[in-house]
Amino acid sequence: MRGLKGRDYISVVDFSPEELWKVLELSKELKLRTYGGERVIPVLQGKTLMLIFQKPSTRTRVSFEVAMKQLGGFTVTANWTELQLGRGETIADTARTLSRYVDGIAARVFSHRDLTELAEYASVPVINALSDTEHPVQALADFFTIWEKKGRVAGVRVAFLGDGSDNVAHSLMLMAASLGASIRIAAPKGYDPNPRILSLAEERARFTGATVEVVRDVEEAVRGADVVYTDVWVSMGQEAEAERRLKDLSPYRVTKEVMAMAKPDAIFMHCLPAKRGYEVVDEVIDGPQSVVWDQAENRLHTQKALLALLL
Ligand code: CP
Ligand code: NVA
Repeated sequence: MRGLKGRDYISVVDFSPEELWKVLELSKELKLRTYGGERVIPVLQGKTLMLIFQKPSTRTRVSFEVAMKQLGGFTVTANWTELQLGRGETIADTARTLSRYVDGIAARVFSHRDLTELAEYASVPVINALSDTEHPVQALADFFTIWEKKGRVAGVRVAFLGDGSDNVAHSLMLMAASLGASIRIAAPKGYDPNPRILSLAEERARFTGATVEVVRDVEEAVRGADVVYTDVWVSMGQEAEAERRLKDLSPYRVTKEVMAMAKPDAIFMHCLPAKRGYEVVDEVIDGPQSVVWDQAENRLHTQKALLALLL
């Protein structure tokens, strides 16, 4: 295992399964120490993370900012358009400049290509804070939560309902495959995962004993599941397709009846923000099986671990 210092985290597969476990183990340690009363663990004293956003964010922005402060560091947060990027300065020149000021860059972008370009020209680590194809920091918190709630990850059965080409679904699939969990995506025709991501997941699964399947039927995915996961039907940037998406994805709503098909102790997960009444009903997201607030909290602990290791 190469060290993680200085590395980028743009896709889940940028890290080996052992490296992903290293982040999860450190997340556990940092969470325990925080709960033990250590508000600041100054391993990144004097270091700065730049956060750049092309789209809105609540959890990612606040958890990264708080994470850096709790590690003794600083953040600078800016909207893409308020930087000279918005007036046409190239990503390459921006990356070269920022690398002279900060110790890491996290960016939320529409096109995944913008991130890979940023990483190519930055001499500091670049972290994907969500792109059109992946949300790898979310997947760290997701599997940390599963580990916490189920006491294991290998062999855990995850059902994802909705848009299989969703960024969150993609990273969840890659993480499941990396850590030896089973994942079944139930999605309608036309909403299958990106074939490249699916084959990356299948490739990883061959070594970890994970299984990755895409089905059309909700019950087929949820029957016997330990985790039922969903995400919005209309992601940021897909507003023009809203009408078609809401219609096509409506059979995949997570209701009490759907939860009843899973194991009795199954948990409900959502990356948030949720569109209540669409992909999930109130009585599920607010019900006893929902772990969404712990999952949201775990963004903070897992990103602290990630930053401590990369920066
Ligand atoms: N889950 C997530 O990334 O939330 P935000 O869009 O609020 O950052
Ligand atoms: N798929 C959603 C995730 C939000 C965290 C989106 O991209 O809008």
